[in-house]
Parts: sequence; structure tokens; C-alpha cells
Amino acid sequence: MKVKNICCIGAGYVGGPTMSVIAQKCPEVKVTVVDINEERIAQWNSDDLDDLPIYEPGLAEVVGEARNKNLFFSTDVDGAIKEADMIFISVNTPTKTYGIGKGMAADLKYIELCARQIARVADTDKIVVEKSTLPVRTAAALKSILHHTGNGVNFHILSNPEFLAEGTAVQDLLDGDRVLIGGDQKTEESKAAMQALVDIYAHWMKPEQILTTNVWSSELSKLTANAFLAQRVSSINAMSELCEVTDADVSEVARAVGSDSRIGPKFLKASVGFGGSCFQKDILNLVYIAKSYGLHEVADYWEQVIIMNDHQKRRFARNIVQTLFNTVSGKKIAFLGWAFKKDTNDTRESAAIYVANDLLEEKAEISVFDPKVKPHQMHSDLEYLNGGDQYNETLNAETDPYEACKDAHAIAILTEWDEFVDYDWKKIHANMKKPAFLFDGRNILNRDKMEKLGFIYRGIGK
Ligand code: UDX
Ligand code: UDX
Repeated sequence: MKVKNICCIGAGYVGGPTMSVIAQKCPEVKVTVVDINEERIAQWNSDDLDDLPIYEPGLAEVVGEARNKNLFFSTDVDGAIKEADMIFISVNTPTKTYGIGKGMAADLKYIELCARQIARVADTDKIVVEKSTLPVRTAAALKSILHHTGNGVNFHILSNPEFLAEGTAVQDLLDGDRVLIGGDQKTEESKAAMQALVDIYAHWMKPEQILTTNVWSSELSKLTANAFLAQRVSSINAMSELCEVTDADVSEVARAVGSDSRIGPKFLKASVGFGGSCFQKDILNLVYIAKSYGLHEVADYWEQVIIMNDHQKRRFARNIVQTLFNTVSGKKIAFLGWAFKKDTNDTRESAAIYVANDLLEEKAEISVFDPKVKPHQMHSDLEYLNGGDQYNETLNAETDPYEACKDAHAIAILTEWDEFVDYDWKKIHANMKKPAFLFDGRNILNRDKMEKLGFIYRGIGK
């Protein structure tokens, strides 16, 4: 079968860029991205491409090319479901904040709502694609909701997890290592459903890059991939603490071990800790699944990746306090960066939030500059962390980095934005309180150069 109409529920960091690229590469397919959030849809439809709700290098160009030709953003979820032959579910699946599995399990309420809506509205056969990262065996729940509609519509459920990383989403979509499609391969019909999705990606990907598996392998592979990636960061971060007490340099250690082709050089950057919407959520989810099958050793093994990451964030804040003579009360500390990594405006689970929270508890005054994050986002991130309590008295968001650093006792780099390296560090140093401390949570600055300028420099693991 040939897909003519695609609908994607969820116009977020995953749904938006993924559908934009599919639309650009498959001009004969109509792609409609729907979302219950009206403001978000209005932003996607904004005439000014700088106003898109998501910042990703290269995204505005792709949207500009395809929008209103074969790419549409809308709040009419029912209409788009009705029209589509293939429906991607790309809604968020946050960690549960209540009930059984609180703080660990994935909250699947939005997924279930989508399934019920599809079941209610659909009057022709549909291929339903899980794009959101889901616990293994979620497809079984989807199937059971969809198949009990009694209106004679056939549904084929596929799993097609996303491997794009934010900040490089468009590049990852256009030129990713692989796509993964999980589906039932038992009947001719289900094979055809899978082939329909393979054909979409075959517009721009090589056949050997399109992997097909059974649904459960696909669901579990996504969790496994994120757990392995996060584990590498926690592993090198664990070494960073050991480096600091032994005078080894973690960058040198990373280079040395990364040159072993079995280990490889990527994802070995020591940092203030990993963030982002996926790593923590997916590992907690994995831990929860393992526990629920009674596999306690498996659960403990993966949980340690999170424990190490929490420790790394906390350790960074503690190091600032200790170095600043054990008190930061009333002292201005400048943060450069708030996003969880460079080239994105996403702040979910960003290390900056945790470090800021710890320092605010020590009564520090924090001023933040981030090239893409809006001030209100910083305040709501802190409020969210504190269960909705106001937390903005001493956090100032600045629109100018030099202003943020002026009269500060210390600067902390939380995100590795390229532009930070090119700042006039001499000028920054001249306008700070002395001694001027620089805590480089991303190891982006040259220690010798900074020390020559007069900074007391502390990197991660060096
Ligand atoms: C989400 C999941 O968090 C992740 O696990 C998965 O891999 C991909 O989808 P992301 O796109 O980053 O990631 O989430 P987000 O930016 O929050 O977008 C989800 C969108 O779905 C939001 O815009 C939200 O308004 C929308 N939504 C949510 C619906 O349209 N309907 C709902 O019922 C729930
Ligand atoms: C991740 C996965 O890479 C992607 O495949 C999946 O689909 C979603 O989750 P993302 O969260 O967007 O993507 O970003 P990623 O580049 O993986 O970075 C995650 C965090 O790890 C960031 O906070 C980053 O700064 C940190 N990190 C990454 C390090 O601290 N050191 C590294 O060497 C690499």
C-alpha cells in the first residue's frame, strides 16, 4: 500500500522536526501535525520563521520549504486522524509524578488518550506508529484499546522510535545512522503495513539503514540505546571525580580510552551531568520495568547511571560553595547557559536547574545568560523542580552576557554554546569581583589562557 496522508499527534521536539523532514522528502505525501496546544500550533504557523516554537539548526529552512505545500500544522486532531492512512503518536511520556511507579514509570496517559481518540474517530483502516519512547510492550495496550472499538476498522501498530538528538535533529533525520521499525511480520497485511513505513524512509535513506524487528525489540532498543549513551556519560563523569583527586586530566583519559576502536571517541565528554527529556526518563523507565519483572540486579545496575548523574550535578554546586570560602550567601554567581546542551532552547532536566537550585538554597544571587532560553522558562523550571513553589527572588535572567557576569564572584558554565569561547574574557575578568572564579562545567575554555587572565579556573575532572 502507498501512504498518501500522514498525521502526527504531538508537535513537539520530536514530532515537529520529524514530520517536517518527512514532508520535505516525500512531496507526494500530505503531512499534518496536530497538537492540543493552540499556542504551539500558532507558532508553527507563524510567518516569521524565527518564531517557530523549537530552535533547531536548519529547521526553519525545512519548514519554510514544505509548509502549506504538503506540511500543515493544525489543532483539528479529529479531522487529521480521519483523513490519515498513517498516524504517528509523538506525545510526551513524562515520568509519573503520582501513584504506582511515581518518580520512575512512564506516564502513559497521553498515549492512551491518543489511542482512544483514534479509536473513536477512525472510520478507515490505519497504520498507527509509536514515535514516542515507550515501555516495552506498550503496543499491546494500544492494540487492545484500538481493537475494541467495534467499528470494523483495522489497525496495524508499528514502533518507530526516534534517535535524533536535539541541536542536531535535522541533520540526524536527514543523515542518521539508522531508522528502526518494529512490527508484526506474521501476516501479509502486517508486512504491508511495515513496508509502507519503510517506503517513506526509503525516499532518502539507504535500504541497509532501515532496520526492521519485532515490536518488542524495537521498543526495548530505544530504551537500551539511551541507557548505553547515558551510561557512557556517567562512566566518564565518575572518572572525572577520580581525576580531580589524582591530578589526572579527564580529557586526556577520554582521548586515550576513546582511541580504542572498541570503545570509540564519542560521548566521552565529562560534564556537569547529562540532561534532556530522554536519558533520565528512559533509564528510570527501564529500572521500573526491570523491577516489575523482579529483576533487581538489572534494575540496580542501570539505576547507578542516574545516581552518578545526580551526584555529578550536586558535586558541581558543592564545589562552587566550598571554593568560594564555604559561603555564597549574597554573592553574585553568573551562569552562562541554561539549556541542557548547545543549539537547543530545550531546558528539560538541564543540569543548570539543579545547580541553580542548590546555590539558591545557599542564598546565592544568580544571574543567567543563555542565547536561546527565555527568562520565564528559567523561572518555571525552578518552580517545577520545587513542586510549583515560587522561586524567582534571586535569579535574574540577563539578555547580555557581559551584564550577567558584571560584579560576579564566580562564573559557572552550564551549557557548551560555541559563542562562549569567543567572548572577551579579559573584559569579563576586569568587571568581576576578585578573586574571580570560573567553573567550567563543560570544559570548553582553555585553562592556561584563563589562568593567565587572572581567573581561578576549575574544570570538570581537571
Ligand atoms: C515526546 C516524548 O517526550 C518522548 O518520549 C518521545 O520520544 C517523543 O515525544 P517531545 O517531542 O520532545 O518528546 O515532547 P514535547 O515537546 O513535549 O511534545 C509533545 C507534544 O504533544 C506537546 O506539544 C503536547 O502539547 C502534545 N500533546 C500532548 C498532544 O497534542 N496531545 C496530548 O494528549 C498530549
Ligand atoms: C538523546 C539521544 O542521543 C537520542 O538518540 C535520543 O533520541 C534522545 O536522547 P538528546 O537528549 O537530544 O538525545 O541529546 P544528547 O546529545 O544525547 O545529550 C544528552 C545529554 O548528555 C546532554 O545534557 C549532553 O550535554 C550530555 N552529554 C552528552 C555529556 O555530558 N557528555 C557527552 O559526551 C555527551
